[in-house]
Amino acid sequence: MIKEKLYPAIFKRKSVRRFQQEKLDEETLRELMENTTKLTSLDSNIKTEFKLMDSGSVKGLLSIKAPHYLLFFSEDKEGHLINAGFLMQQMDLLLSSLGIGACWLGLAKPTDKKLKSSGMPFVISLALGKPSEPAHRESRSEFKRKKLSEIFQGEKYASLMEAVRLAPSGTNSQPWYFVEKDNVIHAFCSKKGKIKALLYERMNQIDMGIALCHLWVAAIHDGMQIDFFRASLTEEEIPKNYTYTYSAKILEGGE
Ligand SMILES: Cc1cc2nc3c(=O)[nH]c(=O)nc-3n(C[C@H](O)[C@H](O)[C@H](O)COP(=O)(O)O)c2cc1C
Repeated sequence: MIKEKLYPAIFKRKSVRRFQQEKLDEETLRELMENTTKLTSLDSNIKTEFKLMDSGSVKGLLSIKAPHYLLFFSEDKEGHLINAGFLMQQMDLLLSSLGIGACWLGLAKPTDKKLKSSGMPFVISLALGKPSEPAHRESRSEFKRKKLSEIFQGEKYASLMEAVRLAPSGTNSQPWYFVEKDNVIHAFCSKKGKIKALLYERMNQIDMGIALCHLWVAAIHDGMQIDFFRASLTEEEIPKNYTYTYSAKILEGGE
């Protein structure tokens, strides 16, 4: 299973924005697509689909010129954006572990023809290919991230949360806050004003899924298992200026 490969990638991955334009070989592409069928979803009731597209199939303001794009489509159900982040981040980490460059593309869209190639709405894509810049960071100090104390209240699961702290997010906004209570970690997303919400709300949901993916990968690595669920929290339990998204129950002892 690919899960084991993902943990080390958390500590060295970075967005790669410059690519060699030569295509990856057929075997590598075939294996990548096979791996999309082995991912774990946050909510298996949501139907999803991955499609691999060549350059020229993606348009958009900030589109990055890469030889390939991995497109993600999903049913439009509650939680589908968090689920998208959770699934696609497994691919981002896998690509990094293979030395293949990748970058999330929040604003790019496939061309109309490709858009219609799935029966489901398009959500987001990753640019990918052979990197023409370093594909990895050398040390943790190269990550521009908030301090752990700014995003986490708790202590027992600090080492898991270090992996979450390094998660990528749209415009590096790191909109998350996590509160540990006994063996549960509650995840919250920062509230936005009306104008910012228009721009960021969608992206921030995807970001939350990415952070939960890092939490899940780190827990598995440490021999634990996670059950994700939605809790009913009281107003007092929700930090000011944040909205509640998801909870993770940590089960010691593994799968
Ligand atoms: C949902 C999402 C959307 C993103 N969209 C873009 C984008 O459109 N263009 C881009 O250059 N980078 C994009 N990024 C990459 C982020 O800017 C990047 O992950 C963040 O700055 C942290 O840097 P790192 O990935 O190198 O650790 C996106 C990241 C995420 C998670």
